Amino acid sequence: MTINGVELDELIDVPAGLRNVVAAETRLGDVRGQEGFYHYRQYSAIELASACTFEEVWFLLFEGRLPDRDELTEFTGEVAQSRLLPTELLPILSTIAAGGDPFRPMVGLRTALSMLAAIRDLQPVWDGDRASRKADALLICAVTPTILAALHRLHRGLEPVVPRADLSTASNWLYMLTGELPHPQAVRAIEQYLIATIDHGFNPSTFTARVVASTGADVASAVIAAIGAFSGPLHGGAPDRALDGVDEIGSVDRIDGWVRDKLAKGDRVMGFGHAVYRTADPRSVLLRDISIGLGGELVEFATTVERRVTEVLAELKPGRDLYTNVEFYAGVVMELCGIPRSMFTPTFATSRVVGWTANILEQADTAKVIRPSARYVGPPAPQPVPPRAGQSV
Ligand SMILES: CC(C)(COP(=O)(O)OP(=O)(O)OC[C@H]1O[C@@H](n2cnc3c(N)ncnc32)[C@H](O)[C@@H]1OP(=O)(O)O)[C@@H](O)C(=O)NCCC(=O)NCCS
Repeated sequence: MTINGVELDELIDVPAGLRNVVAAETRLGDVRGQEGFYHYRQYSAIELASACTFEEVWFLLFEGRLPDRDELTEFTGEVAQSRLLPTELLPILSTIAAGGDPFRPMVGLRTALSMLAAIRDLQPVWDGDRASRKADALLICAVTPTILAALHRLHRGLEPVVPRADLSTASNWLYMLTGELPHPQAVRAIEQYLIATIDHGFNPSTFTARVVASTGADVASAVIAAIGAFSGPLHGGAPDRALDGVDEIGSVDRIDGWVRDKLAKGDRVMGFGHAVYRTADPRSVLLRDISIGLGGELVEFATTVERRVTEVLAELKPGRDLYTNVEFYAGVVMELCGIPRSMFTPTFATSRVVGWTANILEQADTAKVIRPSARYVGPPAPQPVPPRAGQSV
């Protein structure tokens, strides 16, 4: 018997969840789980977060090199233009923002991007050239924060704030959410968070984006599919839940009991554990430092929670190497920078969309559809279809 022309006994079984399976080649970067290291192109992502602006790293991922001054000026000009909401989208955003309790901005984004793709008539990547694909990718990345901030404000009965060409991506994000010019320390903290979360190997949403791009579909379709994968709490939907956990604990004397209760019920501690890292998540280390720089009671308590929860997890789940992941301190940093909790995951999406589209552009350069197989484990087939009620034989 054959599947896709391959003898059944020639099928290759891979570990559940495709762990450690190499599914493509990439020049975008890598995650080294054992070392606690990841990089974009040939540079440490953490070093980039310390040394660069978000736009420089975005350019690096799209173009394969850091920009010189003229290239950066031209690139930021294009981004500023593409940030503006197409006027046709405004009434649609108002309709989306009117629904949902609690309101789910990521659902709104997915819907709005679909409308944008229709309004702008985005073509399948298969039909376009590299320049048109890149223009579509840049449009989607630039407009994503504007859509999310507009949805957030419209849902609260506020007018959307028009992005300013003289502000960076990070600064505009805080400005569009609050309507006020943000403090430079908050801007830099959020900018570093955004840089550190642009890309991270073949995580579920990135893989989803690449699968869709591999069929030749348009950039928006691939991003919308990625948003679906990203919205799950086991992936991008955890920073608010992680901070909710810290709030729920409330005081140092409650940490142990809280963790033990959770694990006894078979629950997971949000903001801990990672599919790839078996040591400290370097993003968590960076964000802890940023949090400490911002200071305050929340940071002091969060660092105590981190220390004690890690110890209890080591005792209850020996050999699992469970440490804080990116979400734990991401929530702390965002809270301290004045981002509402409902906008934590959307903030993550404003950076990850750059990683998704960089992956989509790379995937679109190869003409191979991603199409694995499944091993059938149901009752042996074929069996006769049983007679249907009321049917004559
Ligand atoms: C991120 C995550 C999905 C990765 O999981 P994974 O590498 O596939 O690990 P597994 O699901 O195989 O879990 C391995 C073991 O560790 C346990 N574990 C993993 N993360 C845990 C957590 N956060 N809290 C408690 N136990 C956890 C699992 O229960 C499992 O235990 P078992 O072998 O006794 O059944 C997982 O760590 C998790 O659910 N974390 C919480 C959600 C979160 O923070 N998500 C954001 C990710 S960036």
